[in-house]
Amino acid sequence: MKRNLFITFEGPEGAGKTTVIQKIAERLAQENIDVLPTREPGGIEIAEKIRAVILDPAHTAMDERTEALLYAAARSQHYFEKVRPALDAGKMVICDRFIDSSLAYQGYARGIGVDEVLAINEFAIGKKLPDVTILFDLAPEVGLARIYAHGNREVNRLDVESLAFHEKVREGYLQLVERYPTRIKVVNADQNVEQVIEDVWSLLCDTMQ
Ligand code: TMP
Repeated sequence: MKRNLFITFEGPEGAGKTTVIQKIAERLAQENIDVLPTREPGGIEIAEKIRAVILDPAHTAMDERTEALLYAAARSQHYFEKVRPALDAGKMVICDRFIDSSLAYQGYARGIGVDEVLAINEFAIGKKLPDVTILFDLAPEVGLARIYAHGNREVNRLDVESLAFHEKVREGYLQLVERYPTRIKVVNADQNVEQVIEDVWSLLCDTMQ
């Protein structure tokens, strides 16, 4: 059974990734798999500080290239300080967002260009991509309604973008599925959370075989 896999979770805001990742991490631990859950941007002190700068709702003047570079900088630090050493130590790493967020949000939705954003990310982390990426697919209006219904979740600078922006993010993700058909697996996130957890679990079991 393959254990030291690097698995990333992607999707729009309000797709339920955080809850599902928590439950999946618990299940993996019950199966005696040494698992490290983490998130982007963030996961370690330096990257959490970069996160605070990127997502501060007051930073409306942030240029889209600055934004893309800051995500890539946070990713580089997080990858080399936390993700790579854990994989090398034989752990499974499950990460809430990774490079595909930059490709969909900055590359596609902001319009910088997917290949351009891929290039700065290759500078940041090399050509290594996740072993498997699980994309939570959901209509943006459903995800955004969930965020505003749950008053306890932070509302960040990207959440308050227009619905048209979030529709482009979804389109960007679906184009990435065509570009990386074996790596990216799609889960329908417009179901109850228990069903989403089951769907993710069965994809992971297939991957670990
Ligand atoms: P989240 O951790 O609550 O999902 O918030 C992170 C926000 O940052 C979310 O709106 C997606 C966005 N993001 C990007 O635009 N590019 C990236 O590379 C990453 C990792 C996140």
